[in-house]
Amino acid sequence: MGVSVVLRQVTKTYRVGDGSRVWAADSVSLDIAAGSRTALVGPSGSGKSTLLHLIGAIDHPDSGTITVDGQVLGDLAGAGLARYRAGVGFVFQQFHLVPGLSLLDNVYAPMVGRRRLVNRRGRALAMLDAVGLADRHRALPSQLSGGQQQRVAIARALVGRPGLLLADEPTGNLDSATAVEILDLLTRLQQEFDTTVVIATHDPGVAASCDDIFRVADGSVTADPDAPDRLAALLGGPRRAVEG
Ligand SMILES: Nc1ncnc2c1ncn2[C@@H]1O[C@H](COP(=O)(O)OP(=O)(O)OP(=O)(O)O)[C@@H](O)[C@H]1O
Ligand SMILES: [Mg+2]
Repeated sequence: MGVSVVLRQVTKTYRVGDGSRVWAADSVSLDIAAGSRTALVGPSGSGKSTLLHLIGAIDHPDSGTITVDGQVLGDLAGAGLARYRAGVGFVFQQFHLVPGLSLLDNVYAPMVGRRRLVNRRGRALAMLDAVGLADRHRALPSQLSGGQQQRVAIARALVGRPGLLLADEPTGNLDSATAVEILDLLTRLQQEFDTTVVIATHDPGVAASCDDIFRVADGSVTADPDAPDRLAALLGGPRRAVEG
């Protein structure tokens, strides 16, 4: 099941070389509905990746609260925090597959410590099949195209059935036709698994495929109020109706 994500007054600063501070997130409040797809758009250095890292609890805010599925992340520590992180899927611009592992082992990897999961190899194969690469399961990442590697990365991110998928520029290294394929794949899998998806992107096509768009600038976030209308125009009608 997709989870809701709520940020309230979230601030994250980094100290840089000369002792000054960068406000990577500046009192950010935003709401992401369970099962929705949300885009974070904005120029380089505006704070998109920072927000994904905070939501994924890879990094911690200086102040403010992040609540995912009713759970305040700041209350988590130790095993609870590890469990939360393990329950979030990540997809990156550079794919980040493990070079020495086969595709199957790359997808299997997030399940290594999870002995109670039944049929982990079968799950990994099924996930590779869902992204159209089951027949290549013995191949190494270096033997694949960029788009194929991103398919594997998506399979790896979703194999544990996360309620939340965080994607940082998932189409940033792909040509536009391949980007559309990856987007279609994400859409199909998001519907199948009912996952909440948050995507940091420079790609207007990716943003237009989202239910909500937040604009990030200098660590501040504003909702794009035109997003639903623009979507409707792009799709020739209300999105929900198109989806049936
Ligand atoms: N670990 C860090 N140490 C110091 N400053 C950082 C760190 N991580 C991010 N920053 C700074 O925080 C700001 C936001 O960075 P962030 O990576 O979130 O931007 P972004 O919107 O993802 O950019 P891009 O589109 O280039 O990926 C930038 O000014 C960046 O230099
Ligand atoms: Mg970034």
